[in-house]
Amino acid sequence: MEANKGNKFELETPCIILDLETVEKNLKKMKSLAESKGKNLRPHIKTHKCITLAKKQIEYGAIGVCAAKVSEAEKLAEAGINGILLTGPFTGKINSVLQIISVSPALMVTLDHPSEAENLNTALHSKGLKIDVLLDIDAGLRRTGVQPSGALKLADFILSKKNLRLRGIQAYAGHLQHILSFKERKDASYRSLGEIIPIFNKLKSEVDGFSIFSASGTGTFEIDSSIPEVTEHQVGSYVCMDSEYLAVDSSEDGKGFKTFDPALRLLTTVVSVNQKGYVTVDAGLKSLYKDGAVPQVITPGFSEMKYDWFGDEYGKIIYQAGQKAPVLGTVLELIVSHCDPTINLFDHFFITRGDKVVDIWPIELRGCSR
Ligand SMILES: Cc1ncc(COP(=O)(O)O)c(C=O)c1O
Repeated sequence: MEANKGNKFELETPCIILDLETVEKNLKKMKSLAESKGKNLRPHIKTHKCITLAKKQIEYGAIGVCAAKVSEAEKLAEAGINGILLTGPFTGKINSVLQIISVSPALMVTLDHPSEAENLNTALHSKGLKIDVLLDIDAGLRRTGVQPSGALKLADFILSKKNLRLRGIQAYAGHLQHILSFKERKDASYRSLGEIIPIFNKLKSEVDGFSIFSASGTGTFEIDSSIPEVTEHQVGSYVCMDSEYLAVDSSEDGKGFKTFDPALRLLTTVVSVNQKGYVTVDAGLKSLYKDGAVPQVITPGFSEMKYDWFGDEYGKIIYQAGQKAPVLGTVLELIVSHCDPTINLFDHFFITRGDKVVDIWPIELRGCSR
């Protein structure tokens, strides 16, 4: 039986909550969409940084999880999570990578430069270890990844290293995920992955054990699932959602993002009501990350009102003439602007079913930016 830890509107704020029914609905939906297209899921825990949620994603069919940073992968490995893919570079942290392998031997990393491949191979060789590797190919984001024109040369270099096992590629098109129009996003994703598909096919035909094509975020996974070569999606935001993603069309009907619902909410209390046109709430920059979009008030009766940041500790809820302002002490519920960096500001999620708080999940990986 689920615990009853009180009513969510009695929590001290600001705090973040996860609506459990919505989380489970989002997980189920993603599982069935991926299964129907024969794709694997390796969700990105950079979104939620929570071991309990990572384990739930595996319970709902994921073959493993992705970590952006070495320190995130360390904590996932310590928690006994298998199938970790480190999607980001580990420059200057090879010793930590070796340490993770000692706990989680199936750790897979990405490489986009020969010197990193050389250094990793040397370190592995000295310990008698081997590691699975994905070639990180730049799908147009221009952040990490070898350019497609240099990918085969780097693949050859990796293949020449005895302690590296080249298992596939990673091609994450982060710059496309929030393109508002579904059609424009689809065309752009096909274009960018289209350049990478022949590289994947060539390597797959030549290299034993080369089979993984890891791609996609929440904005492109449905589009990319029609590409036969793509084998797995490294989706992150779908499980929590935020107002930035809700503004994006999930189909050509132009009606916003309908595939997943916002499970993540922030609760904030009205703490001052002495001004005309707005009230002051206790969630500012230190609890509601200013990026991507504007948070949306969803509390019935106040959902026409707009949130705006008001310094480090405070925000304002702006109301129009004729609207009834929330009184002092009112707790308002908001969809956050950008889920990943907002979650990173908190120690735990309060888990709710309806208005009831039923659990508390620690955000163990918060602050793991190394
Ligand atoms: C490398 C990588 N893969 C996957 C994701 C997940 O993307 P989304 O949150 O859009 O689903 C991200 C997010 O930034 C990412 O950086």
